[in-house]
Amino acid sequence: MIKVYVSRFDREVDSEPHIECYEIEKTPGMKVLDALKAINEKYDADISYRESCRAGQCGSCAIKFNGNGALACQKEIKDGALIEPLDFPVIKDLIVDKSEIEQKIKDIHLNLIPQHEDKCFNESITSEDIKETKKVRGCIECHSCLSTCPVVKYFKDEYGGPYIMRYLSKFDKDPRDMDDRLRESLEEGLFKCTSCGKCKSVCPKNINTFGDAITKFREKACQEGEGPLPAHVKFKENIQKTNRSVVSDKSFVEEINKIKANKKGEKPKVALFTGCMMDKKLPEVGYALMDVLEANGIEVDIPQEQVCCGSPLINTGQTEAVQDLVDKNKEVFADYDTVITVCAGCGATLKNKHPEYGSELNVMDISEFLVDKLDYDKMNELDMKVTWHDPCHLVRGQNIKDQPREIIENMKGVEFVEMKHPCQCCGAGGGIKSGEPEIALKLSSEKAKMIDDTGAEAVITICPFCQLNLQDGLDNEEVDVKSMNLVELLQKAYE
Ligand code: FES
Repeated sequence: MIKVYVSRFDREVDSEPHIECYEIEKTPGMKVLDALKAINEKYDADISYRESCRAGQCGSCAIKFNGNGALACQKEIKDGALIEPLDFPVIKDLIVDKSEIEQKIKDIHLNLIPQHEDKCFNESITSEDIKETKKVRGCIECHSCLSTCPVVKYFKDEYGGPYIMRYLSKFDKDPRDMDDRLRESLEEGLFKCTSCGKCKSVCPKNINTFGDAITKFREKACQEGEGPLPAHVKFKENIQKTNRSVVSDKSFVEEINKIKANKKGEKPKVALFTGCMMDKKLPEVGYALMDVLEANGIEVDIPQEQVCCGSPLINTGQTEAVQDLVDKNKEVFADYDTVITVCAGCGATLKNKHPEYGSELNVMDISEFLVDKLDYDKMNELDMKVTWHDPCHLVRGQNIKDQPREIIENMKGVEFVEMKHPCQCCGAGGGIKSGEPEIALKLSSEKAKMIDDTGAEAVITICPFCQLNLQDGLDNEEVDVKSMNLVELLQKAYE
């Protein structure tokens, strides 16, 4: 028997939705739709929901499954699952009213706009165009992405969301369409996406809206003088002057190489890619890493000539300088077997974007590198309760979820407690922290409340942007919890 929690609402009777719990027999492979049917039969519950094709093709059965958009006909039911309607006005139980989004589609003319009023299309579509548009064409209108987007949730009047961006991009790539889709994307909040990738993770057709629609629009906006945001221009200027996206008098890379200069021995086969934040803003994370590596007898090189990975430029559409950065790093790290990162964004960029620019290094996040190398017996007992924040560019960008948890759970005296939605975006990425600080603070404040509910004294992560933004949210909510990098927690254990 499993327990299933379903949101119930009847306009005629209820003032607001409430959750009902039902117990049913789970059959192998049972989907959410089967479970709803079984509940209705067993309890005569009369839960209302939509379904049509039952094959993942029509999108009509979309619901929220444990907070994320999903197709009820495809998602397997689990014990303790919470089934809710998508984030639209509810008509009854799981049936929602999508007239608002349908009206928006009409208002912003989300249909092919020909050049002439006689509706003749001057241009014809080529096989190249078909290839380009295919990436953003497969949408089945389930709207799961809209219900899962963290920015839409709090800023829906300012940001149209992934569904609208994808739709606009489809027409922008179609030579028959004559409307100014770039202008419309800007009006719909093109630079307000955090690049969290949640929309792709819930899309039944796996559409990469950030990568294939939003970054392309941002790139076009920059080329046409319509972007980026003023705060983003600074990244490019900094990189052009110093090879780093942020500036500071200190440099972890320079300092650590001075310290290591007298050490003799064989050249290590592992190199550390520090990223701009560790080098310039959070050198303490770098020194913590050095202590942890030393405690475990691991030697790494930290090449002085390394430069920014280019992610601040890629994410904000300023891509002209990226090839140069990729080429420099490719040369610097060519002789190493493994390149380790302690920044989710750098790691995801090196792994996923650099191959597009011709560089394929063997890159590992610090958690996947250390998980089977740490000497857990040598650690001190810490007596700490901690929780874990999944950086978007680690959990979705690199598919790394278990390794940091395994490390934390193996640490002596550390009580690990999960927060409600550990992989919900904190709002730091995609140029939002610098370009749209109000969005970044709202999202990190929501995350801070979740962290507070765990009773933990520290939230652990592996991304300098998340670490700083989470601390801002915690301070904003006056939550007395410290935001720490995983290597800083490990450093404490080896002190
Ligand atoms: S019923 Fe058609 S997609 Fe689920």
